[in-house]
Amino acid sequence: MNVQINLNRLMGRIFALGEIGALHGGGVKRLALSDEDRAGRDLVIKWMEEAGLQITTDVIGNTWGVRAGFEDAAPVIIGSHIDTVATGGLYDGALGVLAGLEIIQALNDAGAVTRLPVGIAFFTNEEGARFAPDMMGSGVAQGALDLDEMLSVQGIDGKTVGEELLRIGYAGKASVLALRPHCFLELHIEQGPVLEAESLAIGAVTGVQGISWAEYVIEGQSCHAGTTPMVMRHDAGLVAAQIAVEARAIANDFGSPQVATVGMFDVSPGLVNVVPERAVLTVDLRNTCDETLKKAEERLNRAAEDFAVAQGCKVQRRSLARFAPVKFDLGLVGEIESHAKSLGYSVRLMPSGAGHDAQMFAPNCPTAMVFVPSKDGLSHNINEFTAPEHIAPGVDVLLRVVLGQAELVSQ
Ligand code: GLV
Ligand code: MN
Ligand code: MN
Repeated sequence: MNVQINLNRLMGRIFALGEIGALHGGGVKRLALSDEDRAGRDLVIKWMEEAGLQITTDVIGNTWGVRAGFEDAAPVIIGSHIDTVATGGLYDGALGVLAGLEIIQALNDAGAVTRLPVGIAFFTNEEGARFAPDMMGSGVAQGALDLDEMLSVQGIDGKTVGEELLRIGYAGKASVLALRPHCFLELHIEQGPVLEAESLAIGAVTGVQGISWAEYVIEGQSCHAGTTPMVMRHDAGLVAAQIAVEARAIANDFGSPQVATVGMFDVSPGLVNVVPERAVLTVDLRNTCDETLKKAEERLNRAAEDFAVAQGCKVQRRSLARFAPVKFDLGLVGEIESHAKSLGYSVRLMPSGAGHDAQMFAPNCPTAMVFVPSKDGLSHNINEFTAPEHIAPGVDVLLRVVLGQAELVSQ
């Protein structure tokens, strides 16, 4: 086979994109629809144009570029995202998009003709760090999330998705469901410790666990920290702390794979000698079993209500994201596993702990993901790292699956 991946070219692009929004001390901050996101989009689109792709942007800013096939048919799409959390690394999302671009470039270099078109895509706001929910662009594109509702979502800085899309110039014309792939593939770093701990090269991802994000707002009463007897307080901070501890207790009691995270916690007025009158926290609950995830949500809601009542406070819960667990296509997962084996790479089947754009495609077309190891299991951390020699096997496997699906006609 003459279609050859150029690992140096791929790594050069990962580092070049990583310079946009680079943080002192390493890592990157490219929050969705920020100026840095716009600059990242501009750069990737320039590369897509140089590769000769036919580029489309849809109404929520998802952008894809397609290399024509011998047949005018639905494309094999390789996609992921280029937005990051505020303390992100260079690989989360970017690897999947740029590995897809490298595969296209390798096809170009070889003068290859595929029966089906092959395209690459990046989706708006996969992270959900600025605007909840996560997987917003891919969710809208595949009909799982409502466009108008998503355009009116307010971010952590008060701006809406719709106004920020317009501001950065990425409110495109293509409609919801304009992207209808033959199949969808995503290469991603694992973002967890399993592959590294087991010294494995490849994860053939079987699906994604369910995700539930909620925001709790507790209203109490501020008063003097020195003069107010403990029994007379309506301490919103205390209720928030109890909810946070309960979230951990749920994860402990339910056991693996239940996880629970309080990632944002804010009390106000936030002064040393004032009992907090308001507290806001977010809780991220995940489980591979939807029934168990529902039980976790119910237990936390009941407990939040009880804690608030006991302190004479009010609590309100708002859902920020709710996605059921997703299973990937068994045939494609099998192809990933067998290509990995035939290339001599160690491989295991595994679920994904993180959310991914691929999960939004799974109900609509055959979909699967390839994982490569993450050093020390770290992600959403500026020290996120996957060595080039650990990236290469993932791109090799992805290329084989793409060629299997798109079919080489000539080269
Ligand atoms: C998305 O990156 C997630 O939080 O899983
Ligand atoms: Mn990601
Ligand atoms: Mn991420």
